[in-house]
Amino acid sequence: MDFGLKNRLSRIIPAKTGKTVMLAVDHGYFQGPTTGLKDIKKSITPLIPHANCLFVTRGILRNSVDPRIDTPLCLRVSGGPSILGELSNEDITTSMEEALRLNAAGVGMSIFVGAANEDRTIANLGRLVNEAERYGMPVLAITAVGKEMARDARYLGRACRIAAEIGAHIVKTYYCDDFEKVVEGCPVPIVIAGGKKLPEREALQMTENAIKAGASGVDMGRNIFQSDSPVGMIKAVRAIVHKGASVDEAFEIYSSAKK
Ligand code: R5P
Repeated sequence: MDFGLKNRLSRIIPAKTGKTVMLAVDHGYFQGPTTGLKDIKKSITPLIPHANCLFVTRGILRNSVDPRIDTPLCLRVSGGPSILGELSNEDITTSMEEALRLNAAGVGMSIFVGAANEDRTIANLGRLVNEAERYGMPVLAITAVGKEMARDARYLGRACRIAAEIGAHIVKTYYCDDFEKVVEGCPVPIVIAGGKKLPEREALQMTENAIKAGASGVDMGRNIFQSDSPVGMIKAVRAIVHKGASVDEAFEIYSSAKK
């Protein structure tokens, strides 16, 4: 691996623990104003110092994030359809030049395995990796977004493996039963998305299960920013991911912050 690529990757997944807590706040790119992110600057500013990496669009970055932060950035570079349309109709919307200008440590896009335009999204991933490799820019591939996807180990394992084979350097997917099988079949680090808001203890349990099954961390959004204590939740997730805290210990961190 080239120095630049390796260096950027280690900013996203710090070598100290080999794990990461990415904060996903890109939801508006297809959902519009999302619960918990309506006033995005107010929502994310207190969370940023607790994240290893911020997963964000360029619009939010320019308008709502202080450029003096030292948290690394991973830039969402795909888009196209809104939540009202066919989600798999995505294309690349942000150039590599723009990612470099914004000092991104990585770029991310979705692939839609099994959906109407799976072939186009997978080919888009290939093209993005071709360009990214030229500049030493890691690519995060996001799999299994979409209502009708069966989120079991067979489907997620297939989607993650395809993403890695096409050249993704990190894969983001959902947690499922038998998650170790998904990890086993994927030669690059996997981080889990949190998915829809769960009660805090359940979200922490899911985090612990994923880490124990071999995940390299989380790229979590709603279960943090929609919590009644977003800072408490991100600290609790961090404790599990980086310190091997139990769910009870992590829940205590969340509860104390809430008080
Ligand atoms: C979804 O398309 C986005 O990539 C989100 O970043 C991802 O789903 C993680 O957010 P959440 O934890 O809310 O699912």
